[in-house]
Order: sequence, then structure tokens, then C-alpha cells
Amino acid sequence: MHEEKIKRLASMKKSAESGGGQERIEAQHSKGKLTARERIALLLDEGSFVELDKYITHRSDDPTLPKFYGDGAVTGFGTINGRQVFIFSFDFTVLGGSLGEMTSKKIAKTMDHAIKVGCPIIGIIDSGGARIQEGVMSLDGYGEIFFHNTMASGVIPQITASIGPCAGGAVYSPAMTDFVVMVENVGQMFVTGPEVVKEVLSQEVSFEELGGARAHATKSGVAHFIANNEYDCFDKIKKLLSFIPHNNAEEPAIVETNDDPNRIDPKLINILPENPYQQYDMKEIIKSIVDNGDFFEVHELFAENIVVGFARMGGRSIGIIANQPMYLAGALDINSSNKAARFIRFCDAFNISIVTLVDTPGYLPGTDQEHNGIIRHGSKLLFAYCEATVPKVTCIIGKAYGGAYIAMGSKNLRADINYAWPNAEIAVLGPEAAITIIHRRELKNTPNAVDTKKKLAKEFRDKFANPYIAAEKGVIDVVIDPMETRPMIIQALNALANKKESRPWKKHGNINL
Ligand code: HXC
Repeated sequence: MHEEKIKRLASMKKSAESGGGQERIEAQHSKGKLTARERIALLLDEGSFVELDKYITHRSDDPTLPKFYGDGAVTGFGTINGRQVFIFSFDFTVLGGSLGEMTSKKIAKTMDHAIKVGCPIIGIIDSGGARIQEGVMSLDGYGEIFFHNTMASGVIPQITASIGPCAGGAVYSPAMTDFVVMVENVGQMFVTGPEVVKEVLSQEVSFEELGGARAHATKSGVAHFIANNEYDCFDKIKKLLSFIPHNNAEEPAIVETNDDPNRIDPKLINILPENPYQQYDMKEIIKSIVDNGDFFEVHELFAENIVVGFARMGGRSIGIIANQPMYLAGALDINSSNKAARFIRFCDAFNISIVTLVDTPGYLPGTDQEHNGIIRHGSKLLFAYCEATVPKVTCIIGKAYGGAYIAMGSKNLRADINYAWPNAEIAVLGPEAAITIIHRRELKNTPNAVDTKKKLAKEFRDKFANPYIAAEKGVIDVVIDPMETRPMIIQALNALANKKESRPWKKHGNINL
């Protein structure tokens, strides 16, 4: 009797684990894609996965809709490098990984567990979207997932791997998560597909051009990371998790490092070009100061005029925000403001200290920026810095002009420790712009305006464009030798480790979305 029951269990298990059947598994492999279960096995520690709701089936009253154990997704829990995570992985072999009522219920249940336990939730997307045959119940299922995404936001890290289609409103759950990794030539996300685009707008566009990994990593900013293949995708997720805590009540792990916290780098003294308008690569400075030069960049290909990402300094996880003079001279614009503001909010939600490196000539001018809302979007950056109560250390490397000085973690946005290099130029406007305004009349009446302008600009730079006025007023705490940047920031981070700061109670702020 018992034996029979065990046999039945084994047979049900086998049936569930074959998803939509051998033929569809082969079709999945022939597209160069792994199955939902193979993906989970690759991402989680060996043997750690426990599958939940393996025998769930749909309960649609459409008699033509075939039933498969487990329905459209595989869900459960396991560990990654020993750390607890919950996971769901859409099973494309079952009705194209489409989401019906019961698939949504099992995903929501998994998310509930993750929220209660306080550990990351990872979603692997390979899905045809709302299950057409289940009509409104599949739409409602998405509503349930969006609600759970919102409940989890800022409480546990939410990570999405996009390894297949993700169409229609289905894209909004990934968009509500903290990080999206898309696999090149496989992950595709769009609200309306190429056929609709052709029908409505008479535009010919391929799936890849419209919603492929590259499009979302470079243009829309939906993808934070682009992976070469599924293996690379899971490696990126593992690395990302290594910098962040389980939940908003925990601190990120301190990792022992063999990189001396007191290490100085004399190369930094001459890293800035003599000519302040010449380019240099901010990432060289970042790599010089962080532990073992290990910088894990987020949104690497999007809004490249600002650089954001994770690293460790003295073993502590930090989020870095830095202007990049190589692109748009490091000016702030709409996309860079959005990118940095969202990253700051993630770090603040998850107790990750913020290190800001500044070299920016200001906000990017022009009708394009103004009419597309630089005022609205730019304000998010200010809001995010002001709101953040984690330790904030800012170092002005080069230019810090106008609104961009304020926006990049300045003192009154409640940065804790503000450093500046001797090269720092802190002023309301850059020298050239400033003198055309304050010496307008004089320049108008000067026969040799070009030379006069040069002379006045030099005088302005000598007088105002340095860190010492700011240091006199206390908005720069210490002017530091560039080669000591690493030890000075680590000392500040250590000093601030037990920082406690709170904001007045509110239901939530009203950041200008
Ligand atoms: C039910 C679906 C399905 C869906 C795919 N399938 N999508 N079944 N509902 N949404 C089934 C197919 O019928 C097929 O079943 C199997 O999955 C594999 O699909 P194929 O088309 O053969 O695969 P492929 O050629 O790789 O194309 C994949 C695809 C395509 C690009 C995803 O299937 C597609 O365009 N699907 C529809 C996408 C879509 O419009 N979804 C609704 C979006 S609206 P068999 O039995 O033949 O193997 C939406 C609203 C959400 O999601 C709103 C939330 C707010």
C-alpha cells in the first residue's frame, strides 16, 4: 500500500518536472534556452532548491486548455552562496510560460514568504504574458503580482532575470523590481510588439530593436545589466547579491579585504588634465580607491555621463555615484538624474553607504532638456540625496558648478563628510559663463574682447574656482591630497558606521515622478 503511494508520488513528480513535455523542452533547448528548472539549478547552490506548489494546475473552465502540473512557473526557495533566497522561474514549455490565475497565486505566495522571511526574491522571466484563455483572471493575476512587488519594494531586494519574451503589461513587474538583468538576443521586453507597432504606426521594427537587451540597456534604462548568455546572467546576479543585505533591517556584510585601507595612490595627483576642459575617465579614480579595484557597475551603458555601482571600501559595501567627464563633460541631464536618484534610493533603503565623486560643469542646457522635463527629473536627484539617511561621503574632484554642485551630495543636502581635492572648482557658474554675466558691460566696450575675457576668466578661476572659500564656510570639511582619497573616505565611512538619523513621520514623500 505504502509502496503504491510512493510510486504515485514519484510518477507525479516526474510528470511535474517534465513541464510541458519532452517535445517542448527540446524546442526550448533548440532556441538556445535552458528550462525553468535548469535555470534554477544553475543559479542556486547545488541541491538547495525546494520546489513549492509543484502540483498546482489551472482552474479555467475552458475545456480546451491543457493542464500541466505546476502550471506556468516553477517556484520555491534555496540558497545562493549559502544565503536564503526565494525564486520563481516562468516555464515557457507550459503554455508559453503564460500567466494565469494559479501561476499568479503561486508567485504571489513565494513573494509573501520572501517578505516575511526578509530575503531577496528573484524572478526569471520567459513568458508570453497574460494567458489569453484565462481572460480577466490572468489580468487580475498581474495585479496581484504588482501589489506584491510594491509591498516588497524597499523591504527585500527584488531582482529580475529577463531570459525570453516578456510582453504587454507583464513588463511592469520587472520594472517595479530593483534590478533587471537582460540576456542579449534572448530577453525581450515590450508593452506592444512589432506587429502592433507596424499596424498603428506603420513602422517596421524587429523584436530585438524594439525591446532587446541592448535597447533597454542603452536607451530606455529598463535593463541595469546586459548578460552575454544565461550563465553570465546568473553570475551577475550572484555578484550583485554579494554587495547587498537580505533586507532593509540588516546591514550589508563586511568582507575581509587584503587591500590596505591606508593605501595611498600617488597616481591620483596627476590624474586630472592641466586643461580643465580635457577629458579623463572617472572610473580610473573609482578603481584606484575601492578595495582591489573591484567596481561592479550598474547601468553601465545608460546615461554614461554619470557612473553608479557597488564596491567595497575597507570591506564595507558602498554605492558610488560619480560624474563621468568622458560623456557630455559630466553634465547632469534627465537620464543621469533618474539613474542616480533611483540608485541612491536603493542604497538608502538597504543601508548601503553612499560615496559621491563630483566633477560636473552643471545641468545640461537646451530646449530638448527643458521641454522633456529636466526640472522635474533633475529634482529627483536632490530629493533622493536629501531623503537618504545612510552615511554619505562626498568628494569634489574637479568642477562643481551651480545646481550640479548642490545636487551632487552637497553639505546642505545632508551629506555627512564633504571632502574636496585642491583642484576642486566650486562656484555658481563656470569662469567663462560667470564673467560674461558680471562683466557684460565692460566686455561690450572692450576692443580686444577675447584677450580680456581670457584674463578675466583666469582672475575668476584664481579667486573663486577653488575649494578654499567653501572650506572657509564649512561646506567642505577637509581639503585632501588626492593620493589620500582612499584612506580618507574609509576613515569617514568607519566613523559614520553607527550613524543614526531620522526624518519626520510621513505616509510617504511625494518625489516628483
Ligand atoms: C496563452 C500562449 C501565450 C499566451 C504563448 N502561448 N503566449 N498561450 N496565452 N499569452 C503559447 C502558444 O500558443 C504556444 O502553445 C506556446 O505558448 C509557445 O508559443 P509560440 O508562439 O509557439 O512561441 P514563440 O514562437 O517562441 O513566440 C513566443 C511569443 C508569442 C513571442 C511570446 O507566443 C507571442 O507573441 N505570444 C503572445 C504575446 C502576447 O501578446 N501576450 C499577451 C500580452 S498582453 P503551443 O501549444 O503551440 O506550444 C498582457 C497583458 C498583461 O500580457 C496586463 C498586465 C497589466
